[in-house]
Amino acid sequence: MSILFAFPGYELFADRIQDNPSFSGGDFTISSFPDRESLVTIHTDVKDKEVIIVCGLDRPNEKVIPILFFSHLAQELGAKRVGLIAPYLGYLRQDKRFSPGQAITSKTFAQLLSSHVDWLTTIDPHLHRYKSLNEIYTIPTTVLHTAPIVGSWVKDNVENPILIGPDEESLQWVQEVAEHAESPFIVLKKTRALDGTVEVSAPDLETHRDHTPVLVDDIISTAQTMIKTVGHLREFGMKPAVCVGIHAIFAGDAHNALKDAGAGQIVTTNTIQHETNEIDVSVLFG
Ligand code: R5P
Repeated sequence: MSILFAFPGYELFADRIQDNPSFSGGDFTISSFPDRESLVTIHTDVKDKEVIIVCGLDRPNEKVIPILFFSHLAQELGAKRVGLIAPYLGYLRQDKRFSPGQAITSKTFAQLLSSHVDWLTTIDPHLHRYKSLNEIYTIPTTVLHTAPIVGSWVKDNVENPILIGPDEESLQWVQEVAEHAESPFIVLKKTRALDGTVEVSAPDLETHRDHTPVLVDDIISTAQTMIKTVGHLREFGMKPAVCVGIHAIFAGDAHNALKDAGAGQIVTTNTIQHETNEIDVSVLFG
């Protein structure tokens, strides 16, 4: 029996995982001193137990210190092993030095987590230049994939879909989702300028004009990628696009901006808690 400790925002996700009888829930608190240092207290007996932290790593800077404190404390209190289920794994997009002098934070972050937890499980990590997490993580890692779940959501909910990946990087997600949705797919071309602005161009969409466009991407962060693509499809005279994101980061006002851009429907999985969560992927742990 493993004990799950749900960090803030992941209570519902952990509850769902606990439907599997090999997991039970643990109790702990993280409080803040006036100077904003953190104090972690574990209330459940963890001696000789497998301990699992459930915490996604969007907005990672504020989450990492409590995770490290928790992990060390659990080890001190006799836990057999401490694993991390991070439904979203951050710091993967900085996977090369894009400009001279820049940090390759994906590596540093991987080293940091690898030296503080015993294993890591995540969902659809953004692997672009790395082929596997093992290239940067030195602990055992497990990767779960949402494509079958997302594909069947599309199949059940969208009439006559054409799946669209906004850039070459999205090919890996959109192709697999399309297989499960039993739908055609295309991948567009994207360029992002240094100031973050995005341009998207489409190959010939003519043969798909009567389909419902379903944009599929792994991450919606500023939503600029989706916004540009939605605009492009509207100019082309297609129906309002259904926007499907696996990881709902939605930085700042990105969600409203995407709605205002004319997205037909915005749907995400619950790897990051957000009002658009419509697809439950906690079943991957069933
Ligand atoms: C890019 O490499 C990713 O797959 C997403 O397309 C990107 O992270 C989305 O970012 P944003 O929402 O800021 O355009």
